Amino acid sequence: MLLCPSTMCMDFGQLEKEIKQLESAGIDIFHNDIMDGNFVPNITLGINDLKAIKRYTDKPCDVHLMIENPSNKVDWFIDAGADIVYIHPESERYVSKTLNHIKERGVKAGIAINPDTSIETVKEMLNYSDYVLVMTVNPGFAGQKYIEFCTEKVKRLAQMKERYGYKIIIDGSCSPQRIKMLREIGADGFVLGTSALFNKNKSYKEIVQKLRSM
Ligand code: DX5
Ligand code: ZN
Repeated sequence: MLLCPSTMCMDFGQLEKEIKQLESAGIDIFHNDIMDGNFVPNITLGINDLKAIKRYTDKPCDVHLMIENPSNKVDWFIDAGADIVYIHPESERYVSKTLNHIKERGVKAGIAINPDTSIETVKEMLNYSDYVLVMTVNPGFAGQKYIEFCTEKVKRLAQMKERYGYKIIIDGSCSPQRIKMLREIGADGFVLGTSALFNKNKSYKEIVQKLRSM
């Protein structure tokens, strides 16, 4: 099970301490939400944040590009150290071409699909996807409510996993109970935000150990 803390939820006032604590808690991938204020109504992390995070950890870092026209920007993030690049098919005209470019740069490629995006419309892209990030909230903000109809999408994607060879990561309102349920239907990993990890009165280590023991 891949546990991916959402870095936008961290206390950037003590970045190194947060990263080190999350690392020693046993997380797998740092999930970096990049938002441009156009594709989603919020602006969060940028290139310098990614570079700073990469300075403090050897763990893989992904970038979740919630930006318009990512094709001409993916190199900025790869050059800044991204190990996985997620693009939204809703924001890109030639998705497979961009996914292929990401892979040619030697890093992993993934599509991130919004709640309203049906699997039928992304099937061909799965040929180039190492990961599928299933948004279970409308992207842009932490602390939102889980959208129940997304569970069915996870089930459908799990049935196609063998054929295409991608991993399913869930992004949005991943509480411990929901992680358990979604893991049982085939999800491989989870973005951890305020629903499971941050702003709790327990250490990251305690929470991560508990999640892994479920
Ligand atoms: C949503 C963000 C995630 C996540 C945060 O756009 O990509 O950071 O929802 O986790 P929660 O939903 O648990 O606060
Ligand atoms: Zn995300």
